[in-house]
Amino acid sequence: MTITTGKTGHLTIGGADAVALAHKYQTPLVVYDVASIKEQIKRFKQVFEEQGVAYEVSYASKAFCALAIYQVIAELDCHTDVVSGGELATALKAGFPAGKISFHGNNKSMAELEFAVKAGVGAIIVDNFYEIELLKQVLQEQKATAKVILRVTPGISAHTHEYDQTGQVDSKFGFDLASGQADQALEELLKLEQIEVLGLHAHIGSQIFEVGGFELVGQKLMEVAHAWTQKYGYVAKVINVGGGFGIKYTAEDTPLAPEKFVEHIVKVIKQKANEFQMEVPEIWIEPGRSIVGPAGYSLYTVGSRKDLPDHLSYLAVDGGMGDNIRPALYQAKYTAVLANDPLKTATETVRLAGKYCESGDILVAKAALPETKPGDIVALLATGAYGYAMASNYNRNPRPAVVFVEDGKDKLVIKRETYADLLALDLPYK
Ligand code: LLP
Repeated sequence: MTITTGKTGHLTIGGADAVALAHKYQTPLVVYDVASIKEQIKRFKQVFEEQGVAYEVSYASKAFCALAIYQVIAELDCHTDVVSGGELATALKAGFPAGKISFHGNNKSMAELEFAVKAGVGAIIVDNFYEIELLKQVLQEQKATAKVILRVTPGISAHTHEYDQTGQVDSKFGFDLASGQADQALEELLKLEQIEVLGLHAHIGSQIFEVGGFELVGQKLMEVAHAWTQKYGYVAKVINVGGGFGIKYTAEDTPLAPEKFVEHIVKVIKQKANEFQMEVPEIWIEPGRSIVGPAGYSLYTVGSRKDLPDHLSYLAVDGGMGDNIRPALYQAKYTAVLANDPLKTATETVRLAGKYCESGDILVAKAALPETKPGDIVALLATGAYGYAMASNYNRNPRPAVVFVEDGKDKLVIKRETYADLLALDLPYK
């Protein structure tokens, strides 16, 4: 989390003055530094190149979905994952090549599968037996073919800072390995002429700091691939180890660099390929948070304040749980800075509260800030993942605008909602 400032001493984002952006577009405002997004992707790609393996970096767009982000990702020749018809529609509208889209989900509807097959998505990540039945019907109706990747539950659960090998067998996603469901799914899929099974997928969690879980998942998928070659003569072209690479939200966070995750994953997959005398498959990863998280900033205007004799003061801003549910939902921590002077020494610790009618609407439980006054702009750092993407209209607050900045130039990419937008779907009862 590097903080940059301009001539005025204000926080800058992608070379633009954050306070000026806040005044131009109003707050709450989400601002992305496009160069940072591109840089993260390049880092992932470069390390694969250095390792000399075939690969795909597939941006998990649930972290932030908008026309603009798909356009940026497409420019960098990456894949993307979608998890709903809505995300798929957005990606296609952005001109994202359908062949580079993977479609995820544990309960894809018939309509969503019809849409995905018709669009010709590059891979459908098949999750369960019901989906296989639906897909069969869709392919028959459309007289079409599809490439699929089989999602398995590897029995590895990864949490921030830790992982254990036995957990997560009860995950709602994917075919269970231990009970033979995954084998049965492959058997069914291999019988279907309209389906090509590209390979295997597993995802172990999100905001993971350590490499151990990824090594285990790489090894596990290779073991399954090997077993399937022996049992069915089936050769997996793709091993997809999912996403989940952690990022730094506060000074306490110490995630590994993206390169390190990839290096370890490639290493264990190569080792297993060597052990089993298999070709090294294509290695796919699906980072979401690590691509857009660090690049995003949430800008708020300081409003009311409540001081208490024996407790931390509340400093309220004009956004909150409607534009960032993560602190309330996951006790997620963020770093707040005064955008007007981000390098100024902090003089107090306050509870940075939102404007929503809930006591739990606290963006930062202990925000160290210099003295502030109403009208100052506070920035939350690294809010680019699962912030706007999980935004709601709770309390009928409009969702914020989103701006992309590159080389100091700002571009509005999602308009601020208006009261008219909020009312657009309502119909009178009487
Ligand atoms: N692939 C699959 C199959 C996933 O389910 C996910 C995230 C990803 C990739 C991307 O993971 P990432 O690299 O972004 O960690 N709303 C939560 C995070 C939910 C993640 C769901 N799946 C949060 O705000 O922390």
